[in-house]
Amino acid sequence: MVTARTPLMAGNWKMNLDHLQSIAFVQKLAWTLKDADHDYSQVEVAVFPPFTDLRSVQTIVDADKLDLVYGGQDLSPHDSGAYTGDVSGAFLAKLGCAYALVGHSERRTIHGEDDAVCNAKVQAALRHGLVPVLCVGETLEQREATETPSEVAVAQLLVGLEGVADDAELVIAYEPVWAIGTGRVATAEQAQEVCHDLRAALAERFGAERAAAIRILYGGSVKPDNVAAIMREPDIDGALVGGASLVVDDFAAIVRYRQHVGA
Ligand code: 13P
Repeated sequence: MVTARTPLMAGNWKMNLDHLQSIAFVQKLAWTLKDADHDYSQVEVAVFPPFTDLRSVQTIVDADKLDLVYGGQDLSPHDSGAYTGDVSGAFLAKLGCAYALVGHSERRTIHGEDDAVCNAKVQAALRHGLVPVLCVGETLEQREATETPSEVAVAQLLVGLEGVADDAELVIAYEPVWAIGTGRVATAEQAQEVCHDLRAALAERFGAERAAAIRILYGGSVKPDNVAAIMREPDIDGALVGGASLVVDDFAAIVRYRQHVGA
């Protein structure tokens, strides 16, 4: 299917790579992609480093005029004030972030973030000109306990986007929790099924035209050898990559999925 959506390959570093390591990593990634003549207008490349790396990443991106973009792994639902340990979307915007992850399953499970908190964070991102990457996805128990595989993800999506303007720029990431860091990738068909239902829910919420323009990523054990099959699916517009995004050659191969596998 021909689509006007530019694929987005996003590396979520989670709590890996300190600020010195982030500089070396971003430089090596940029060189690797330059050597391969990567065209960033064909496949967008984003990294999500820890907060403490962002200033260093910004400096490299600016100094070397890289086309790579970056974002925060989380943000506060508040703009400023007595919120010890939180990071405002305003600060992320000032550091040149394009995106902010919201509601990653590790935030939901380890930090108890519910859909209402995710919604407040989506709104905060938009207030500061950041594109929220709203992460949704079911646990194995939820998958087995619900009638359709997409039920949990669609419900998370709808609450997460409550009150969001029809023309807001958004990215959705479908990450089945059972496929994260487990090596157990969802089949391309399983991923497509849920991404299709997410797009249908977006169409109901925002209208078909808007829904057709919103990128939906798949995340969960994406590797160079499985990305092409996933990217062949019509409703999948990129990947949110964890483990493989920490290995330059692997992440570069994922970004270049069209070349190395002829997808
Ligand atoms: P893995 O690619 O390591 O499974 O992680 C996926 C993920 O959680 C990306 O946000």
